[in-house]
Amino acid sequence: MKKKAKTIAEKLLSENNVHIISHIDADGITSAGIAYKALDRAGIDVSVEFIKQLDESKIEEIKADDQGLIWFTDLGSGQISSLESLDCVITDHHEPGNSTLTPKLEDRGNILSYCRKALELNPHNFGLDGAKEISGSGTTYLVAKEMSDKNRDLSKLAVIGAVGDLQTSEKGKLIGKNREILREAVDEGVISKRVDTTLYGLESRPLHKVLEYASNPILPGLTGEESNCVNFLVENDIELKKDGEWRKWYDLSKEEKRTILSELAKRMLRRGYSTENVESLIGEIYILTEEEKGTMLRQAKEFSTLLNSCGRYDKAEIGLHVCLGDRDEYLDEAMKLLAGHQKVLVDCLDYVESIGIEEGENIQFFHGEDRIPDTVVGTVAGMILSSGDADKRLPIFAFANSDDREGVKVSSRGTKQLVQKGLDLSSVMSECSEEVGGEGGGHDIAAGALIPHGKEEEFLNEVEKKIDSQLN
Ligand code: C5P
Ligand code: C5P
Ligand code: ZN
Repeated sequence: MKKKAKTIAEKLLSENNVHIISHIDADGITSAGIAYKALDRAGIDVSVEFIKQLDESKIEEIKADDQGLIWFTDLGSGQISSLESLDCVITDHHEPGNSTLTPKLEDRGNILSYCRKALELNPHNFGLDGAKEISGSGTTYLVAKEMSDKNRDLSKLAVIGAVGDLQTSEKGKLIGKNREILREAVDEGVISKRVDTTLYGLESRPLHKVLEYASNPILPGLTGEESNCVNFLVENDIELKKDGEWRKWYDLSKEEKRTILSELAKRMLRRGYSTENVESLIGEIYILTEEEKGTMLRQAKEFSTLLNSCGRYDKAEIGLHVCLGDRDEYLDEAMKLLAGHQKVLVDCLDYVESIGIEEGENIQFFHGEDRIPDTVVGTVAGMILSSGDADKRLPIFAFANSDDREGVKVSSRGTKQLVQKGLDLSSVMSECSEEVGGEGGGHDIAAGALIPHGKEEEFLNEVEKKIDSQLN
């Protein structure tokens, strides 16, 4: 990968201006942050654009505009057949689509007929797993590092991107190429890692709120029950306040943490939770050493959540500013978007509860109609699958009417166990959406598509057949 990254870096460094096109989620925003910083440091003029999905109409538009060299980050590989004749570079980790330009055996002699201009760096082309071992921002970082050794500090953004894309293993750790990037971030002094709880909100929430809002795993008798959470802490001799301020997880001593975690484990085991589920309470956490304690920016998981809330509400640029180090009004605005995002998620989960999840032979699904924004339907599907309300033995499919594009957005999510058994949602989404006149792709464990209105049932029939062939 290093050699390819170097070729791409050299091409970028020979340009005067570069236009970055990236995806709107945390991994896409950190990818754009890395690419922006690397180009800017090299004295190259940069512009940035964020998009939800790279579809054929967008590609036509890009081809018609002359914007100089384009650098696609965290997207592009799924559409390689339409991009390969374009002068562009791609740093992505989605499953590559089929190339139409791969020379047929009989054409190999005639090299002129094989003219691929696009330069692509994608882990799948090097035998690596793009869903687990490296993210879009990690792939972009490999190029940035070849552009200049000074860019090694950007490894912190690649850690945030990988965490945002849920690439941590069952043991709650970054693995594969992500681990190498993590090591560089630690060597640079921009990240420190430690084993701690995987519960969300260690920096930003008061202690009892960490328990109350726990969703993965659900804490029996505590999740959603504020007064039970307070009682639980009091019974275990944990002070709730210090100097009149709510204590946070990072304020606790090792013993206090141990007490809480072992009591939580006991509770879960008594309720029949599996040991894996209980063990998922513990994992590695990644601290951004340069950020202030007690802020959302201090822990990679919270930082990525903040970025996701920007992208989902058409404000990815705000997230980009935060990645580039701007604070003040940008951070304030990002925090507001986060508060709104959390409210939207709660409303969406309530809505799904009210309509229920339908089960098919090999899948389960729900339709968010106009009640779930298409930008969060994937997040909602993922939350439901991991929450305990859904059957973990079936992949979940979620529909929502698209706000700004003609059609229905579909998001699908699976589990690591299902992927081990042969599930590949990327091929399900790309092939089944194509059958009904749509477009899609992604990763084995999480993929998306846009299909025409009214084609949901036909699409699900195709999905049933395809998944049956993968799993049975
Ligand atoms: O577009 P991109 O590759 O950045 O997004 C990856 C998506 O896959 C994220 O929405 C992430 O939540 C999802 N994912 C998941 N479970 C995993 C890995 C990724 O839901 N184990
Ligand atoms: O949109 P959603 O979160 O469901 O997407 C899951 C994964 O599938 C993401 O990595 C996203 O970038 C990818 N995807 C894709 N092509 C689409 C829609 C989503 O590659 N048309
Ligand atoms: Zn990604």
